[in-house]
Amino acid sequence: MKYQTLSGVHDILPEDFVYFNKVQKTVESVAKYHGFSRIETPVLEFAEVFSKGTGSGTDIVEKEMYTFRTKGGDLVALRPEYTPVIMRSYIEHGMHNQPQPIKLWYLGPCFRHERPQAGRYRQFNQFGFEVLGEQNASLDSQIIQMSYDVMKELGFKNISIEVNSIGDSECRPYFKKILISYFKSRRAALCPDCQRRLKENPLRILDCKEEKCQRVKAGAPQIIDHLCENCHAHFKDVLEFLDELELPYTLNPYLVRGLDYYTKTVFEIIENSEDGKAQGTLMGGGRYDGLSKILGGRDTPACGVAGGMERIINLLGSREDKAVVKSKKPEEAKIFLAQLGQMAKRKGMKLFEEFRAAKIPVAESFSKDSLKAQLRSADKMGAKWVLIFGQKEALEDFITLRDMETGTQKEIKLDKVVEEMKEKIKSLKN
Ligand code: HAM
Repeated sequence: MKYQTLSGVHDILPEDFVYFNKVQKTVESVAKYHGFSRIETPVLEFAEVFSKGTGSGTDIVEKEMYTFRTKGGDLVALRPEYTPVIMRSYIEHGMHNQPQPIKLWYLGPCFRHERPQAGRYRQFNQFGFEVLGEQNASLDSQIIQMSYDVMKELGFKNISIEVNSIGDSECRPYFKKILISYFKSRRAALCPDCQRRLKENPLRILDCKEEKCQRVKAGAPQIIDHLCENCHAHFKDVLEFLDELELPYTLNPYLVRGLDYYTKTVFEIIENSEDGKAQGTLMGGGRYDGLSKILGGRDTPACGVAGGMERIINLLGSREDKAVVKSKKPEEAKIFLAQLGQMAKRKGMKLFEEFRAAKIPVAESFSKDSLKAQLRSADKMGAKWVLIFGQKEALEDFITLRDMETGTQKEIKLDKVVEEMKEKIKSLKN
């Protein structure tokens, strides 16, 4: 029997890590620049964090969540997203006692039992930024700016930002009624899913991708025409900030996003192909001022975004700039440490550790015993110097340094090796 990964999950191989690290570094540097601190939470949570937080009627909770009972009888879930968890953590650790807002970023695995297809996995990695404890519209635009910066720094050129406001508990119920009465008279023209949504969550009809629903929704009322005064003013502020920042956004009155906690601003960052066709949503987010109370906390306005590592990596990997990303590999070793015999191997390992402590990259091949094979490896990787640690050297505590270009050799006392190589590398850089 041959084992392989489960459907919809994947290994991240060493060659993928070139991209993974690149995205992580970009996310981290944007986060740090804006004063965000990293947080990580357990992959397992009480299922209620999501059924209450994300919403029991959402696709994520209803269809996609990995839920099971533990041996102790708790109903738990593999996290399908971070946002309710970040809020759970904020409440649990009394972060409201610290100066507000609290700015957090994260990166880690999430799980959704979706139908596997391009860019859709059952285990995928999400990164995100969340700001908790502030309602000012400047933060919505800061989060959008950060999302845009990540994409730009990764070299995406055809990205668009779609923005909308979906109101709050004051104006949305009223808008829902208007929407229901519009769609009710056109019920037969909707797909079966949307006919069901009409009862449970009519807003979701607006972002249905089915062609027949698209036709019906083209004439549907738009929520921005029905926002309450407070939501209207907030959205106006967000757009003014975005204009000031010269961010290329478009208003999408049908963008509602499929999670229950959103209030006011929602947005998505979309990659388009050269001919302007949407390739997929790389990041999505919005404001969620009501989530804290839903999870038993005090009133805490908040806003955030999350992006899918794999979707971004897939696009990076399929583009020409693959070579650019690859060329930014970590510093390559100029020194190769070769050893001959058990004692040299033991002492060689210790020396290797001394090089690591001195932050000098050194390549080795401790698994090989033949000097010839080791020199071949050194040659293949383009080492400038080989440090040969043979039996005689190990007994008398010295090492033979071979210059691979000139072929000349010299002996160095063991306790001087690290220092001398440090000087050599320095002179190479000057
Ligand atoms: P979301 O739109 O469900 O929002 O997911 C955010 C991003 O995660 C998506 O744009 C996509 O790139 C990635 N993603 C989602 N599902 C998958 C999947 N099955 N396979 C690969 N990538 C996927 C959220 O999760 C919210 N928590 C975002 C947020 C943060 N809102 C406020 N703060």
